[in-house]
Amino acid sequence: MTVHAIEATAISKKFGNLLALSDVNFSVADGETFGFLGPNGAGKTTTIRILTGITAPTAGTATIFGHDIVRETIAARRQMGIVHEISNVYDDLSAWHNILFASELYNVPRSAGERRGKELLELFGLWERKDDRVKVFSKGMKRRLTLAMGLVNDPRLLFLDEPTSGLDVQSNLIIRDVIRELTGQGVTVFLTTHNIEEANLICDRVAIINRGQIAAIDSPERLKKTIQSVQSVEVAFDPSSPKLLEHLRELPLVSEVRKEGDKFRLITEDPSGVIENVTTYAREHHTRIISMTTIGPSLEDVFIRLTGLMIRVKGVKAID
Ligand SMILES: Nc1ncnc2c1ncn2[C@@H]1O[C@H](COP(=O)(O)OP(=O)(O)OP(=O)(O)O)[C@@H](O)[C@H]1O
Ligand SMILES: [Mg+2]
Repeated sequence: MTVHAIEATAISKKFGNLLALSDVNFSVADGETFGFLGPNGAGKTTTIRILTGITAPTAGTATIFGHDIVRETIAARRQMGIVHEISNVYDDLSAWHNILFASELYNVPRSAGERRGKELLELFGLWERKDDRVKVFSKGMKRRLTLAMGLVNDPRLLFLDEPTSGLDVQSNLIIRDVIRELTGQGVTVFLTTHNIEEANLICDRVAIINRGQIAAIDSPERLKKTIQSVQSVEVAFDPSSPKLLEHLRELPLVSEVRKEGDKFRLITEDPSGVIENVTTYAREHHTRIISMTTIGPSLEDVFIRLTGLMIRVKGVKAID
């Protein structure tokens, strides 16, 4: 029988009267990159804290490569590296000393820690800055250092809580590349994110979590297939006027309109009919269509469908 990297069974977590997690079940295969995708307050960090033995579940069990996280915490922890949502780097120490400190925490022998530390700082583009105090690092540099620190013990399983949130493109790319490289080496990755595109780009499977409950678990592609009927037409106008939104919503065949940056996304089951209607509208209102494309369902559509969140433009439901 193959042992799962993570097996969570009927996990619940209460904080006073608040049920932060409710009957959460999932398993992560050895070598898989698994994403926990959910809005703020959904229970992502709470799940990571339970799986890493920082907090105990109110009910249910979790095992890490077969070791119960509550009863065999040390054996379970030995398999993992953890990168917390809030950085745990020491500002007054240099990057290099932070790395050495982390390797001591993980009981990595000094020489191995130094070798691995150098490799990791190079990998994350921080080797030249190794002697600088972390105090002067940018947010992205700190996050990269935190990741390097989570990898000093060569974990089989890496937990990442929101690894790229709030970072610029360059740091994002470095972090995503490293995650892919780790996966290539057989490391199992469990990450949380509220960034749908990120989940789509790097995860083999995604669990969508909302208000402490899992709404779906599947590969990004299969999740998209579940709502294949939803298609959309993305269109940009010049000039764009505030009235457009209202008018587009009234067009026949359009079931919903979302404004996305300088474009409008018209959800429909009949894209070609909508294209005709939009073209006629533009001609009649003396506005020019500067781009128009048909797009299939996105993971975001699945997310919205499953969680009932947002659809801000229509004002049906607000994010809480
Ligand atoms: N120590 C705690 N005491 C009381 N309530 C808590 C505690 N930790 C989390 N919660 C509550 O549990 C719920 C889930 O929080 P959690 O931090 O797991 O969400 P999250 O999905 O990580 O959100 P975010 O995207 O904002 O990081 C929230 O309602 C939060 O207020
Ligand atoms: Mg969180």
